[in-house]
Amino acid sequence: MIYQVYVRSFLDSTGDGIGDLAGVRAGLPYLKKLGVDGIWLSPFYPSPQHDHGYDVADYRDVDPVFGDLGEFDLLMAAARRLGIKVLLDIVPNHCSSEHPWFREALDSAPGSPARARFHFADGRGPGGSEPPNNWHAMFGGPAWTRVADGQWYLHMFTPEQPDWNWRNPEIADEFDRVLRFWLDRGVDGFRIDVAAGLFKHPDLPDSDDPEADARTRDSVNPLAWNQPEVHEVWRRWRAICEEYGAQDGRERLLVGEVSVPTAREHALYVRPDELHQAFFFDLLGAAWDADAFRKVISEAMQDIAGTGSTVTWVLNNHDQVRTVTRYGEPTPEGSGLGTTRARAAALLMLALPGAAYIYQGEELGLPEVVDLPDDVLTDPIFRRTGSRARIRDGCRVPLPWSGQASPFGFTSGTEGAKPWLPQPEYFAEYATDRALADTRSFWHLYREGLHLRKTLPQLGEGPLDWLDTPPGVLAFVRGDGLVCAVNFGTAPTPAPVPGTPLLSSGPCPPGVLPGATAAWWLNDL
Ligand code: GLC
Repeated sequence: MIYQVYVRSFLDSTGDGIGDLAGVRAGLPYLKKLGVDGIWLSPFYPSPQHDHGYDVADYRDVDPVFGDLGEFDLLMAAARRLGIKVLLDIVPNHCSSEHPWFREALDSAPGSPARARFHFADGRGPGGSEPPNNWHAMFGGPAWTRVADGQWYLHMFTPEQPDWNWRNPEIADEFDRVLRFWLDRGVDGFRIDVAAGLFKHPDLPDSDDPEADARTRDSVNPLAWNQPEVHEVWRRWRAICEEYGAQDGRERLLVGEVSVPTAREHALYVRPDELHQAFFFDLLGAAWDADAFRKVISEAMQDIAGTGSTVTWVLNNHDQVRTVTRYGEPTPEGSGLGTTRARAAALLMLALPGAAYIYQGEELGLPEVVDLPDDVLTDPIFRRTGSRARIRDGCRVPLPWSGQASPFGFTSGTEGAKPWLPQPEYFAEYATDRALADTRSFWHLYREGLHLRKTLPQLGEGPLDWLDTPPGVLAFVRGDGLVCAVNFGTAPTPAPVPGTPLLSSGPCPPGVLPGATAAWWLNDL
């Protein structure tokens, strides 16, 4: 179980209102208590922050906002002492327009080796005034931007994030060096941003549905994503990880952000010589509905676990509306129903075979902050599409740690220092100190679930067998006798197993499974 740390919103040690690496170090004992195996750190590299660090200007350093390499080393040492693994977020599909190689490309002539590291091309139409093809960027607008001499460059996200040209062997070589730089500093692996990206169709032809990515906000343009060549890169990265593992016996992990059309294609990314794990986003995408959840889980078991790979489950991350809000009614302070369902979904996820990732604040049951004023929004999607509906700031509001008022212990807070996004008053109810003190809290549910995952042999890898259940209810058995059941409806239903559950997401009298509740039982079936 890996915990995603969104560094700028985790804990601020300097009082500038932005979380940092020293803050992460200070928060490690909290994470140890929760029972995480490792953390994934969102990008902290030097960056102009047009997409909160997913626009990397230097892959081998720390942005001064977050600390420096010395602080990074201290964090690694502290994590090692506590037995917490550390994954870095690596962004190989694109860099920042401030990256020295992109600056060099801008200063070089069309056709030069410096331009060949990116996708530069002449335009179409009179004087080349139209983009080289009709693709749209994921965050809105054309996927091409024109430079001073009239050529265009490709960016599948914002214009400040030019895409690397992975058909140029220099790029693969450079990323090998970047991986080794961090592996030499002791990291345990990498979360790979947009891992179905990197290669584009070699001819960059027009798309039949150029706005599909922007419309779905997903990587669905079959010419821009999921090209077969990308698998070679994952084999190469896997070999580097194995090489380090062979030296010291410590396994290094690659987990990919892989969004592809089917579970079968997804499985290709986790073949034995490629990535160890890849987020299977279909669970996150499923509506609160028993049939939808069953379909997603069954496909994953058949098409991914069935090939001998691990399924990597995720319900929340820094790009998505938080479960408490997604499953509930859209009120500013979340809703009772959303919370109850999100608790049930958490127990369901933790009972599934494979790996699980949780996103900071998920363990507190934080709702999405839905009423941020426009002038504080920083997500480039808002600027580029004018849409409040799809923004990602609401799940990135700094964590509440303690106290009754903002900054809730998030920032060490010299006079006047404010968290980079405003925290609503109701965050007081979710502060970690309250969560730890209340055994009915979300936090204790996660903690107990994680503890049982470590101690019960039925959990983690292994088979899953569905049990017969009435409509609206799912139940499955893991190994020799751990039963997990979820009631997606609102009315109570008979429990599939007699007796008191081992763990339940809400009050669960023997023999009954109340609405919007999940429970685990140990049973000799
Ligand atoms: C991934 C990240 C997202 C980022 C995008 C571009 O989807 O999770 O936050 O904006 O890649 O790097």
